[in-house]
Amino acid sequence: MDLEEKVILITGASSGIGKAVAVALSHKHNRIVITARREERLLEAAETISQNGSEALVLVGDALDEQQAAKIVQEAILRFGRIDIALLNVGAGPSLSIATATPEDIKKNMRLNYYSMVNFFCPLVQQMKTQPSGGVIAHTNSLAGFLGLPSQGQYSAAKAACRTFLDAARIALKPYNIRVLTICPGFVITERNKHHGMPKAFTMSLDEAAHHILKALKSETREYLFPFNLTMGIALARILPRSIRDKILSRSVSSRQ
Ligand SMILES: NC(=O)c1ccc[n+]([C@@H]2O[C@H](COP(=O)([O-])OP(=O)(O)OC[C@H]3O[C@@H](n4cnc5c(N)ncnc54)[C@H](OP(=O)(O)O)[C@@H]3O)[C@@H](O)[C@H]2O)c1
Repeated sequence: MDLEEKVILITGASSGIGKAVAVALSHKHNRIVITARREERLLEAAETISQNGSEALVLVGDALDEQQAAKIVQEAILRFGRIDIALLNVGAGPSLSIATATPEDIKKNMRLNYYSMVNFFCPLVQQMKTQPSGGVIAHTNSLAGFLGLPSQGQYSAAKAACRTFLDAARIALKPYNIRVLTICPGFVITERNKHHGMPKAFTMSLDEAAHHILKALKSETREYLFPFNLTMGIALARILPRSIRDKILSRSVSSRQ
């Protein structure tokens, strides 16, 4: 889909990747609905969007609340009449020791990464089914969803769940012309994680990540993985014998957490 003069909803748009994508799209005369919990951050992003020639609508809400998510979709439609593209982007993958994790630690992350997506996905489908041109629903997934990373097991699992659900949705929603995309970045440096000491050879800036995500939206690639070097690393790891893969992955955790 070309990315001009579209109505675009982005969740988790107050910082990081969501904000960077919203700003990148704002150079193309779009109408951009940005949502998250921190209103002042959203208002800052809205100002940049307006300066760049697009219209911004700020809708504050908690993506974990099903009713708030449905209301945000409704308000976007009331204002702009349709939604052409949605980027469901809320999520996070903090490190967690599986040796000491509680059920709540793990469920909390599943809610943040999986339910936050589902809460927007369903009302968006209901809307896009009524639109003659259908629409695009994209999800910010992660390369971490392809491997069980020992320090981020809960995150890998939640992103893998999102990917599998969206694989099914892509087929089920084709008759309605709703295109479902899974976008899987590697490490992206954000305000939140810049001190986490990620391996530099593989990190990307927010601008680079936004550039890739716009490319994925434009080309409507079903599953778009980036950057290339890390994608190849993950592909290789997945075909290695399990014993070797586990040995490599175990280097990322201390023997007792
Ligand atoms: N950074 C990376 O290396 C990387 C790599 C692969 C994938 N990803 C994925 O990219 C997405 C964005 O991550 P990011 O790195 O850009 O993180 P970020 O800067 O922390 O952004 C997360 C966004 O989600 C919003 N959010 C969090 N909880 C929310 C809630 N309950 N309700 C509504 N909004 C909520 C935050 O806004 P408020 O706090 O204002 O609500 C913020 O706008 C995530 O899905 C993440 O898994 C990131």
